[in-house]
Amino acid sequence: MRKHIVAGNWKMNNDLAQTETLISELKHQIKTSNAEVMIAPTATNLWQAYQTLKDNTVIEVIAQNMHFAENGAYTGEISASMLKSIGVNTVILGHSERREYFNETDDILAKKVDAALANNMRVIFCFGELLEDRKAGNEETVVGNQIKNALFHLKAWDFKNIVLAYEPVWAIGTGETASPEQAQDMHAFIRKTIADQYGYEIANDVSILYGGSVKPGNAKEIFSKPDVDGGLIGGASLNAEDFFAIVNAF
Ligand code: PGA
Repeated sequence: MRKHIVAGNWKMNNDLAQTETLISELKHQIKTSNAEVMIAPTATNLWQAYQTLKDNTVIEVIAQNMHFAENGAYTGEISASMLKSIGVNTVILGHSERREYFNETDDILAKKVDAALANNMRVIFCFGELLEDRKAGNEETVVGNQIKNALFHLKAWDFKNIVLAYEPVWAIGTGETASPEQAQDMHAFIRKTIADQYGYEIANDVSILYGGSVKPGNAKEIFSKPDVDGGLIGGASLNAEDFFAIVNAF
């Protein structure tokens, strides 16, 4: 059975003191949950976040990014084994901001996915179309290609460590959300894309998250759709009460 997941992507927000404050507020609010709950602080605060939450069975600390190489001359980068060595077992890959500002291509992302899986990490793999793609009616082609190019070299069993996150770029940080119907339509297409390649047994087990301006006011309706298994939350994950409300939408 696929899992319900709510993951907070803090992006480049919160210094160490702010990270500690937000985590202590989250610990206070989120005592149990019907969904898996994850937070992704910035890399410099992962260790502290992990230490603060290591006895907490509800909230998992995850990373926002990593490099594909195991080690070596890649100034400024962090490897999968480095994340593992501080207790981080899940990584977000392919976020649209990484694709746009850091030129992460499907080929690079395929290598990153391989490196994460080789290190026994779970991947939250993000993709989504631009506004112009949707206006041109190309959203399914774009999303289908993003999935095929970065994931279709994987073996069926690799999907036990893959979570998919559909994030239409036009909805990220804009306050504009895909309607629950738009999200459901795309999620059903994504599941069919996986099923066509790997079969429905695998496709039905993959969690597909929606991301893009999810807020306490719209989470319940979006999460109620049959192919929406949770959310990747940006802005609203920086406020403990809002994040708690979204987690509680399950
Ligand atoms: P947002 O970001 O919730 O602020 O739109 C979502 C994301 O980028 O993962």
